[in-house]
This record gives sequence, structure tokens and C-alpha cells, in this order.
Amino acid sequence: MKVIEWKDEFSVGVPLMDAHHQQFLNMVHELNQAVSSGREDVDKKAVLTFFIEYLDMHLRAEERLMESIDFSGANAHKEVHHEFENKILEIERAFEKDEALLKMEDLCELVQEWLIAHILSEDKKYEPYV
Ligand SMILES: [Fe+2]
Ligand SMILES: [Fe+2]
Repeated sequence: MKVIEWKDEFSVGVPLMDAHHQQFLNMVHELNQAVSSGREDVDKKAVLTFFIEYLDMHLRAEERLMESIDFSGANAHKEVHHEFENKILEIERAFEKDEALLKMEDLCELVQEWLIAHILSEDKKYEPYV
């Protein structure tokens, strides 16, 4: 996958949210590095569980932030979060049926693409209100 490094333009003006986004992106890059080098064994189940938990932590924190500033787009934004969480849960269910179906490279790419597109198209919307 084409690694997209963090840029200042990804900032949403809230240091904690930027830290979550940056950390999540870095973890995806580390995982991608591990799987593409083929040198390290990757526990797919643990990675999926970790992504689901990290997403839950970050998305709930972001939703609380939007509520605390009375951001009018909070409900629509929450819907977008739920859609992505459902997508990852679907991937987890498919993985439980057939582990071979899950390619870590594809998961890394999906998460990286979603995270950056989501920051730029959705998270940036609350920036003027913080
Ligand atoms: Fe968001
Ligand atoms: Fe976010």
C-alpha cells in the first residue's frame, strides 16, 4: 500500500484528537511494515480486536467532544462513525468464518484510507467550532 504520512493539514485543531489520529495512523504503518516485510508473525485476531477497541475509544471521545461544543453536525457525524464500525465488525465476522479471507495488507489500506478521508471530510467540520 502507499503509505500516507501525517501532515499538518490533517490537524483538526484539537491536540488530543490529532494525537489519536496520528497514533492510529502510525500503528497502521507499523503493522503494514510488519506484514509487508514478512518477517514478523501477525496475530490477526489480536489486530482486529485492537483496531475495534482503538476505534471505539477514539470515536466515543470525538463524539463527546462534539457534544461538549454543541456541534450541530454531531448526529450525522456519529452515523458515519457507526457505518465504519459496522464495516470493521463485518470484517471480523467474515474472519471468524474463514481466517484466510482477511489480508492484513487490505485491512491496513482500508483503515488508512478511511481515517484520512474521514479526517478531511468529516472531522474537519468541527474544527471551526473548537
Ligand atoms: Fe470522526
Ligand atoms: Fe476522528
